[in-house]
Amino acid sequence: MTSATDVKGEFIAALSSAAGDNSFVKLTLGKFRGEGSTRKAVVTLVLIKDKPHLKLVTSYSRKDETKTFAIDQGVQFIADLIGTDYMSATLFTNVRDVRLDYSRKGVPHLSAGKPTMPSAAPQAHDRQKAYLVPADRPYLKALEVADRDGRIKPTMQGKYRQICRFIEIAADLISECAFEKSAPITVVDIGSGKGYLTFAFYDYVTTTLQRPCRMTGIELRSDLVTLCNNLARDLKFDGLKFVAEAAAQTDAPADIVIALHACDTATDDAMAFGINSGARLILSAPCCQHEIAPQIKDTGEGLKGLIKYPLLKQRQADLVTDAARALLLEASGYKVRLIEFVSTEHTSKNILIAAVTSATVDRSAALQQFRALQNTIGFSTHHLASQLKDAE
Ligand SMILES: C[S@@+](CC[C@H](N)C(=O)[O-])C[C@H]1O[C@@H](n2cnc3c(N)ncnc32)[C@H](O)[C@@H]1O
Repeated sequence: MTSATDVKGEFIAALSSAAGDNSFVKLTLGKFRGEGSTRKAVVTLVLIKDKPHLKLVTSYSRKDETKTFAIDQGVQFIADLIGTDYMSATLFTNVRDVRLDYSRKGVPHLSAGKPTMPSAAPQAHDRQKAYLVPADRPYLKALEVADRDGRIKPTMQGKYRQICRFIEIAADLISECAFEKSAPITVVDIGSGKGYLTFAFYDYVTTTLQRPCRMTGIELRSDLVTLCNNLARDLKFDGLKFVAEAAAQTDAPADIVIALHACDTATDDAMAFGINSGARLILSAPCCQHEIAPQIKDTGEGLKGLIKYPLLKQRQADLVTDAARALLLEASGYKVRLIEFVSTEHTSKNILIAAVTSATVDRSAALQQFRALQNTIGFSTHHLASQLKDAE
């Protein structure tokens, strides 16, 4: 017959191996029988200084308490709570769910079943992203990306993946920039919308990197600005504010400028603002583009076959718009990378232009390439060029 210690040991072994083999999703502890007021607890994985840790959040009626442990210490801490303070524990992994329940007489019973949270358990590559943006962050609940239990809503999986991917890319670039540790990092998000990426970015810098941050979301729609300012206040995100104004009007300080799917030439306004205010990092995913397509008329004979079909002409114009932006950023002293941001399954607007200041980039070569592109494609005005002294 299996003893109570063996049953619990089997559950703890399952927890330990899931935490070490990339299959762990979360652990919940319930049926509180310990001393003091009733509570429940949820354990998730987080990255601290690039190392996985277990984060235990204990929820009391009026407050939450968070403790973070290295994996082995966390497993030991949880093992001590099970069967003493909590009489039920459920381990969610991406291969199975395992449940340990104690009867009234204290007899443990172990059961296992199919995984009920497989999507929240990303595999190898995605896993890194989930560490950077844990699904149970309060802003994800408030913005209705996650439900009350910190699970990503089925309809918001695409948005969550976009947020994770964005933070993953931003994390690498922020570390490349090696910002001074003593001063707050200043960030401006142009066209911040409902603030999904703004809150995620601010949370990443302040909570994960533990760096002071002053961030401003710039958004035309005052209803969204009010919503986001209320949420920033409720979450005590004291360095984050939102302002109702147009991209071209902003003068907030900016070490970093981000602009995700800011409409049409608002992307150019964001880039111009970043360049002209000396931002070290500019991260932008362009949205709809209407400026270049109507200008493409006098292209050479060789390209006529490409632009005679309206759909292809628009696609060509989109690529030209972004190539011109990348070249103008290089001409302004930035090293530029174009990255596929999210899968084309979710949106065709999936190019992210990442620009980091560089002393070695060949600025005049980039400007010449911009001029050659203008001549070959046959466009005369570009909204970003018109805002840069050297490119006019
Ligand atoms: C497609 S939404 C993207 C929102 C957010 N960046 C995201 O990715 O979730 C674009 C937002 O940009 C705002 N916007 C468009 N043009 C703008 C401008 N010139 N200045 C400031 N905001 C602008 C729109 O009101 C809209 O909320």
